[in-house]
Amino acid sequence: MKNSHVVVVGGGVVGVTLGCVLSRFLNVTVYDRDDQRIQRWLLCSPPFYEPGLAELVDGSSVAFTSSANCLDSADIVILCINYSVESDLRDTLHLISSECTTKSHRIIVDKSTLPLNTSQRIKHFFNNHHSHFDILSIPEFLSQGTAIRDCLSPSRVLIGCDTSESGIAAQNTLIDVYAQWVPRSKILTQNIWSTELSKLASNALLAQRISSINSFTAICDATNANIGQLTQSLATDTRIGSDYLHPSVGFGGSCFEKDLKMLIYLCESLDLVLVAEYWKGVLAMNDYQLQRFVRRVQDTINGVEHPHVAVLGLSFKKDTGDVRLSPSVRIIKDLLAQHNTVRFTVCDPAVTEMQTMNEFDGCKRVHYCHGIAEAVNQSHCLLLLTNWPEYHTQIDWTAVYDSMHEPRWVLDGHSIVDVEKLISLGFNVYQVGH
Ligand SMILES: NC(=O)c1ccc[n+]([C@@H]2O[C@H](COP(=O)([O-])OP(=O)(O)OC[C@H]3O[C@@H](n4cnc5c(N)ncnc54)[C@H](O)[C@@H]3O)[C@@H](O)[C@H]2O)c1
Ligand SMILES: *[C@@H]1O[C@H](CO)[C@@H](O)[C@H](O)[C@H]1NC(C)=O
Ligand SMILES: *[C@@H]1O[C@H](CO)[C@@H](O)[C@H](O)[C@H]1NC(C)=O
Ligand SMILES: *[C@@H]1O[C@H](CO)[C@@H](O)[C@H](O)[C@H]1NC(C)=O
Repeated sequence: MKNSHVVVVGGGVVGVTLGCVLSRFLNVTVYDRDDQRIQRWLLCSPPFYEPGLAELVDGSSVAFTSSANCLDSADIVILCINYSVESDLRDTLHLISSECTTKSHRIIVDKSTLPLNTSQRIKHFFNNHHSHFDILSIPEFLSQGTAIRDCLSPSRVLIGCDTSESGIAAQNTLIDVYAQWVPRSKILTQNIWSTELSKLASNALLAQRISSINSFTAICDATNANIGQLTQSLATDTRIGSDYLHPSVGFGGSCFEKDLKMLIYLCESLDLVLVAEYWKGVLAMNDYQLQRFVRRVQDTINGVEHPHVAVLGLSFKKDTGDVRLSPSVRIIKDLLAQHNTVRFTVCDPAVTEMQTMNEFDGCKRVHYCHGIAEAVNQSHCLLLLTNWPEYHTQIDWTAVYDSMHEPRWVLDGHSIVDVEKLISLGFNVYQVGH
């Protein structure tokens, strides 16, 4: 095993984090067809922000390449690709199939979150190949923002395989790989259907908790109940706990919505109509929460002639620069579409000016600022849309008050501000669920 060559396909957060950790024990190449991405890794200038990852790459022996011929010498191929349509997967498999010509036996590990039964479909695809491929499913549970910690000390590792003799041998190989840094008691073997479903189920439940707490914010907004007090009571119930129960403008990112849709599609294809409807509710609640917030913003700027809205936070959550399906971006886009004159000044600790320009197609009504003071300056309304720690501690509200214009609305999507304090300073305040 020591001399095994591992090729990780996909140089995103999942592939690069795992590649770095594996390179402590094995010979690892990260291959991505996006040459720009590869160049960024080679230049030690990561294509996205993930805390600690630049340093991890710098200190590792991972090789990066955008040429697929590294696949031929691979003993283990680990798929960490993003994926939207079936043909993307087929293209990837065709590539692997045509590059892998010399060795008689290889292992393919599916680490991407793909529709159920993908491992079997991959196996089926390679049935006629002249060499033998064993397919394993080892879903990734890391979260952006804590990717390295999650990869180094996972709560558990699931390894799914079929029950053939070579399948079990492949499973044992990967158990030995992971056992180099994960306690064996945390490495669980399962049948491949369970492993694949475990990943979808886990993301579905996390998203459901966010939608559940957000459904209560709607009740709080319509009554005198307070979401802060409610979450306090839920969090201290040891059966429930506090994780993923923070009121917000909804979930975003590249995973939750995509994985829920895969789950819903699966239920429909199995004719489990009620189960599909149940999970559709989680997505519907997320959209509802976002639209509720958009309406609040509209109400505050309706009377203002050329409304200027400041936005703190563009990324879909703290500790990442990822704006894919970010609620913040969606809220800004909705308001731009509904208002001819509204303009935005935006800032974020991890999202760059270039990303912002791309995200809004260079729209002149969205102006990127390099800090909080510049973003809030001269605005009528201030939106807090990402739960960055610095927004809890580093905002000088008296200075913000002085630099804003009437009606000085603060709309807080993440329970960041002290509502009573801001009201006493003279602000108008809306906080989700307060
Ligand atoms: N981001 C997360 O927090 C997270 C967590 C757990 C699981 N996942 C899953 O892991 C997978 C990867 O996630 P990510 O966030 O690292 O993705 P990403 O979008 O950041 O990166 C994927 C990379 O794969 C490359 N790629 C796609 N097809 C390719 C091909 N045929 N050949 C070579 N390169 C190819 C793309 O160019 C891209 O750079 C996804 O399926 C995702 O659902 C993501
Ligand atoms: C996958 O990620 C790459 C790099 O970020 C991007 O260019 C591509 O559009 C993504 N593909 C899908 C299907 O999301
Ligand atoms: C899973 O995929 C295999 C291979 O393509 C196929 O034969 C089988 O019918 C699929 N099973 C289900 C339940 O979809
Ligand atoms: C705020 O705007 C005013 C008027 O354009 C300008 O003079 C001032 O320098 C700005 N302050 C900050 C912090 O950007």
